[in-house]
Formats: sequence, structure tokens, C-alpha cells
Amino acid sequence: MKAISQTFQEISPADFFYRNREIAGFANPVRAIFSAIRELVENSLDATEPMGILPDIYIRLSNMSDEDENFYVLRVKDNGSGIPADYVPLAFCQFLFSSKYKLKQSRGTFGLGGTMTILYGQITTNKPVKVISSTGPPKIYEYTLMIDIQRNRPIVLDRRIYDNNDKWHGTIVEVNLEGDYPKAMPKILEYLKQTAIVNPYANITFVDPRGRLYKFERTVAKLPRQPRETLPHPHGIDVETVYRIIRITRCKTLLDFMQEHFHRVGKRTAQRFLEFAGFPEDADPKKLKPEEVVRLVQAMKNFNEFLPPDADCLSPLGEDILKAGILKELEPEFVAVTQRSPSAYSGHPFIVEVGIAYGGKIPVGEDLILYRFANKIPLVYDESGDVSWRIIKSINWRNYGLMPGMPFAVLVHICSTKIPWKTVGKEMIADRPEVSREILNGIRDVARQLGAYLSKKEKAKYEKTRLSIFAKYLPKIAEFSAKLAGKEKIPDIGELLRRARKIEED
Ligand SMILES: Nc1ncnc2c1ncn2[C@@H]1O[C@H](COP(=O)(O)OP(=O)(O)OP(=O)(O)O)[C@@H](O)[C@H]1O
Ligand SMILES: [Mg+2]
Repeated sequence: MKAISQTFQEISPADFFYRNREIAGFANPVRAIFSAIRELVENSLDATEPMGILPDIYIRLSNMSDEDENFYVLRVKDNGSGIPADYVPLAFCQFLFSSKYKLKQSRGTFGLGGTMTILYGQITTNKPVKVISSTGPPKIYEYTLMIDIQRNRPIVLDRRIYDNNDKWHGTIVEVNLEGDYPKAMPKILEYLKQTAIVNPYANITFVDPRGRLYKFERTVAKLPRQPRETLPHPHGIDVETVYRIIRITRCKTLLDFMQEHFHRVGKRTAQRFLEFAGFPEDADPKKLKPEEVVRLVQAMKNFNEFLPPDADCLSPLGEDILKAGILKELEPEFVAVTQRSPSAYSGHPFIVEVGIAYGGKIPVGEDLILYRFANKIPLVYDESGDVSWRIIKSINWRNYGLMPGMPFAVLVHICSTKIPWKTVGKEMIADRPEVSREILNGIRDVARQLGAYLSKKEKAKYEKTRLSIFAKYLPKIAEFSAKLAGKEKIPDIGELLRRARKIEED
């Protein structure tokens, strides 16, 4: 029998995403044009807000030529930090290259969103991307780039340097790509509107291929608190992470090692933990045997006395900003928001913020209306696979005097250093019991507030009707009873009505 022979091959990360672009949100021209806008806008927001800059983002989508309607030029300009000139090619044309592989909240996490947009543009139009960036004076750099997909490396086709006389800092990305804007338009506009809800401190301008201008204006000049980088929490650690830390550590004892490299581990906790794990305090971390590293990691998972992670590395919106965003974009009659206390799953801190909006311009839908956000990114696809959708469907809304079909919308925002994404396309959040519990409690809280508002409103309405009936018949009753009593003068009912009105207002 002939031997079965197989050929083996290695592919680069760029090649992998070239072959599997649907998992990054680029399955077809409709989805691709949506994802391209989204990825570039998110990079712009990440380059402004965490640096303390109020974002000004300008997005222009135009047709590449009059003949072919399916090819576009997408240009996104921001007033962000800019990228140091030497990093521009790597940041945009190398997969898995990022400034965000850190333990603090940011929209970007994977190091592929912007690069994927450029790869998609390249494989559909064969045109390079143009990136103009400056971190401030003296210079502005303009790059023309392509990706060497097989080697996952940038190809610099051209580089120009200009004087930066206007003290500009920021980035402009101009990419050519195939797309289907007419079909993608509703989702794109929805995405921008929802981005404006959770970023009311941003100015976002969008000019579409027909020249229509959409402006989402800043109504809050305050930024959310900035996240601080943190250390890993022992509950979220695995063997690989411990090995990486051992390689770089300068600590000579496990007692120092635990305090130096892990989040919220002080001396007493470290001592108690090492006793629990059965390691001497003065053991040298660099001399641990492989099985000892595994034992150490297991013990970290099982030790219950570590303090929970704190939320310094997170950047929630805060109730004021969330409320302002909802009022600005949804224009409801009533809004309630709540921020839950920080919590953690598997050592990853998270905060859930929930809002409910009722009446005003909130549409009446047949089903419940849910707006989902994660790290200030709106999620507008794949709603039914998301944990928040499952939760709002499981709630008995009648308990709060509500039901589907009434004009109300629920907003759920989760922020975390590690959002439990179901895919790298960042559209669905997985079900983690700790996270779902916070979402449920948050929704209950705002639903109760809305329920109370509605019942008060109902009562006021009832009183008003009662009063108007009163006002209508009282003069007649007064006249009639005056006659009956044989009196000529009809009593003054004005005072009585005034008093009844006052009771109603109170
Ligand atoms: N507009 C911008 N301003 C400044 N830096 C940027 C900008 N766009 C991209 N970058 C830099 O390029 C890097 C790569 O961007 P990319 O979108 O590919 O990945 P990411 O944002 O880190 O992660 P994700 O895949 O989750 O989006 C970023 O980490 C950032 O450092
Ligand atoms: Mg990104």
C-alpha cells in the first residue's frame, strides 16, 4: 500500500484573517463597510478620550468613481494622540500589533480591527491605504502602505514629511474598499447614533456618499474618568502568565514576587497565601520546577482570601454622562440610570451600567428595545445571542407595570478589562453568571424606578379627571343646593376647587 502523504504549511496571522475574514466582521460587502467604519471610529475614540482629549471625529464615505457604485473611499480623521512615525506601518499593516495589550479598559483589545479594514480594502480594490498622522509639532507624516499578507509585514510604498505649523495632532486614515452602503446604511446610522449615546462628549460628523451630513454634537464637556493600568489578579492567572512573570522578575523570594506582580496582594495576604499553598516564603521564583508552577497557579485559583480586583483600571461612563447621552439621542420623557458596584469574574473586574428610557421619542416596538454597549462600543448585530437579550426576555415586565409594546428602551453597558466576547467581531457577550447577575439587578433597579414614575403619572391622571368632573358639576351642585335651602346667594366654590387642586399638585 502506498504511504499516505500530507503536506504541511504555516500561515501568518494576516493570512489567517485573510482566509477567515468573516470572524472579524468582514463577511460580505454590507457587513464589511459597516465594520470598516466601526473599527476606524473606535480607534479614533481610543486615541482621544483616554488621553484626556474631547474627541472630534470626521468620517467621509464617498464613491471611488461614478461608474462603479460598489467601491468606496473611506476617510476617518481624528484629533487624537497620533502615532509615533516609526510605528505607523506596523500599527496599520501588521496583524496582532497593538498599543492596547494592557490591563486597562479600552475599546480595542485584539490588535486587528484597523488592520483588518486595510487588508479588506487591499484585497477588494488592490489599492494602498494612506495614513497621515502627527503626535504634534514639528512634523506630520504621510504614509502610503500595503500589507504583505503572506508575511504579515507592512510594505511602505511612500513616505512624506510635512511641517506641522498648525500644531495639529491626530490621525487620518484613507482606505479604498468594496462595500454596499445602501444596504449597510441603517446599521451604520444606528451605530453612530448609539456611539453618540455613550460618548456624548464627542463631536462626530459623517458625510455619506450622497453628500448627506449627519452630525452628532457634543453636549457634555466632561470625559469619563481615565482608566489606570493594573496588575493581573491572582484569580485570573494561568501557567503561561506566571512563566512570563518569572522570566522578567527581579524578586528573589516568593513573598516579594506575590506582592510585586499581582493585583491587591499585600504582605499579609501573600504570607497567608503561601502558607495555604505550601510554599516557603523565601523560595526563589526562578527556581520553581514546572509542577510547582502548576501547583502555585492552582492554589491562586483556590485561595479565597485575595481581595477582589478594584475598578481603577475601568472607565465607566458614570450616571451623569449616561443620562446626558440618552436624553440627547433618544429624547425620552423619562430616564433612569444606575451604576452597579464593581464586581469580578475569573479575576477580571467589571462594572455594569444600566439605563431605561420611556416615552418621548422612544418608538413603540412589537418587541422589547435593547441597546447594548461594551467598553463604550455599541453592539448592533447579533442581538439574540447576547447575554443581555436573554436577560431582558426572562424578566416579567408586568411586575413593573410594563409590557412589550410600550414605548420604553433598556440600555446595558458593560465595562471590563476583559469583555467576555463570543467572537473577535465584538458583537456578542457571553453568559458569565457573575456578569448576568449584575445585569439583571441593574435592570430591575431602573425598571422599578420607571414603574414608580408610571404609577405616579397614572395617579396624577386619575386625580386630574376627578378634578375636572368636580369642576364641571360643582357649580351646578352649589346652585341647586342653594335653591333647595331657600338661599339666594350661591356659595363661593372657588376656594374649594383651589384646595382640591393643591392636594393634587402635592
Ligand atoms: N486613529 C488612531 N490614532 C492613534 N493610534 C491608532 C489609531 N488607529 C490605530 N492606532 C494604533 O494602531 C494599533 C492597531 O490598531 P487595531 O485597530 O488594528 O488594533 P487595536 O485597536 O489595538 O485592537 P482591536 O483589534 O480590538 O481593534 C492600535 O493599538 C493603536 O496603537
Ligand atoms: Mg482597533
